[in-house]
Amino acid sequence: MRLICTCIALCLLSLPASAQEKFKEVGPIKEIPLKVTDLKKPLDYLEHVDALFAKRCTVCHSGNIKEGKLDLGSYETLMRGGKSGDVVKPGKSQDSILYKAVQRTHRRPMPPKGDEPCTQEEVALIKLWIDDGAKAPKNIKPPKEIFVTPPPSNVNPVRAVAVSPDKNIVAGARGNQIHIYDAGSGAHVRTLVSPGLKTKEGKDVKAAHISLVESMCWSPDGKYLVSGSFREITIWEAATGEERHKIKGFAHIVVAMTFSPDGKFLGVAGGSPTADGEVKIFDVGTWALKLDLKNCHSDTVYGLSFSPELQVPAPGEKLPDPNAKNPPKIKTVPAYMLATCSADKFVKVWNLPDGKAVKSFEGHTHHVLDVGWASDGKLLASAGADNTVKIWDFEKGEQARTINAHGKQVTRLMFIGKKAEFLTCGGDNAVKKFNATNGGNTGNYAGGTDFIYAIGTSPDGAVIVAGGQDGIVRVYNGTNSQLTRSLLPPDAQPPMKQEEKKK
Ligand code: HEC
Repeated sequence: MRLICTCIALCLLSLPASAQEKFKEVGPIKEIPLKVTDLKKPLDYLEHVDALFAKRCTVCHSGNIKEGKLDLGSYETLMRGGKSGDVVKPGKSQDSILYKAVQRTHRRPMPPKGDEPCTQEEVALIKLWIDDGAKAPKNIKPPKEIFVTPPPSNVNPVRAVAVSPDKNIVAGARGNQIHIYDAGSGAHVRTLVSPGLKTKEGKDVKAAHISLVESMCWSPDGKYLVSGSFREITIWEAATGEERHKIKGFAHIVVAMTFSPDGKFLGVAGGSPTADGEVKIFDVGTWALKLDLKNCHSDTVYGLSFSPELQVPAPGEKLPDPNAKNPPKIKTVPAYMLATCSADKFVKVWNLPDGKAVKSFEGHTHHVLDVGWASDGKLLASAGADNTVKIWDFEKGEQARTINAHGKQVTRLMFIGKKAEFLTCGGDNAVKKFNATNGGNTGNYAGGTDFIYAIGTSPDGAVIVAGGQDGIVRVYNGTNSQLTRSLLPPDAQPPMKQEEKKK
């Protein structure tokens, strides 16, 4: 039987293009009877079904493309189903859309008309797996081994910046290096080095991370600077530049990080572009994982922001009746919500610490690259790859306004402390300030010569920094918008010094 199938397949493959039109007319495929004992290896999702999907289906059903809202990239996403709901009914192949689609008795045969249909054996295998109970893989699919090598020394875009809360220190990440400067004088204070960093071949790497540093943030008490890179974050002692702690095991690049306003929690975001978004919350100090917001977004999470502190009823207390004349006073405790945004175009809000979904905002027409929460808790602002900033009314759950903020994608957005103002930067080389309440453009920070990836500010907005593709960290006086320093890598010959020598 197998021989005949192979023959048919080979014949089809060798047909000229015109004859391949025949695929269009392929009717229902009668599957061959297949038993578990016919298989060379015990029936296993990864070994058999996943391998089949990878060969035939995932070009249209995984990563950024999820036709029919169906993701065949993993067992979990398959079982989540597509736009028609569940596509697998365990034990019942005849009722499963997945089986009917490959058997070509469904109104949408898969692969679609024009593509080479599944073989009888493949169809039989899917039937067997479903009728056998559609069991989960025995082993976790190992994440694809991605070889991390240090970037070449000429690649030094600034992907992240941060200002210490006391506004004395500026951190700029270039490539895999983190340079620390005195904000006032612009002097290079130190370069952060992770001890014992080595490439796979055992070569020493004198840098903060092996791979590019893509995110940074400062703890509100000024104690820690945290940096995020490929699959890891590092917590640095800000005063000494010593590495305090490392957390590994993230799905992909850590692209955004933020502390809760009380400094008790650290939120970390990223995720694999071909799978789900990732959001994790850690307890500051013990660095224990507090919450893993699973299945929060269907793509990379680019930004996250804690709400201002809320007061919620203490455990055991009940919310008083809002119509009561003299509502009894109840004990409250502080709590937070978390806003996240993603390449899946959504902004979502979650309750903490239980991780329950609260609201979701839809309106951006492209990836949402950052999100911020105004300190009154009423407004959210999000930055889009569609060049806009959208302001959302949290209570009403709707869009309050759209600002055509930049000429290219808006790469970052950051509220300035407790002000109703936020900063943005973009692919149009610009850094701007906006008022969240009326949408007005209240500041512009000039000098950028290329794509800007990163912005930072002191809590009072007095020191503003930005960095991007040209590798320069620019420091601005937030009050008069003047450029005060252009910080170069420590080994670069600053043009200033040359002039001083002439004197
Ligand atoms: C060339 C692209 C392409 C390939 C390859 C492809 N599909 Fe699809 N698939 C689609 C499109 C487009 C839809 C949506 C069809 C519609 O509902 O209009 C879809 C829908 C589906 C659905 C229905 C989802 C739902 O909830 O309605 C299933 C099941 C499915 N595909 C399974 C498969 C399987 C299994 C394979 C591989 C054997 C496969 N597809 C290969 C494009 C593709």
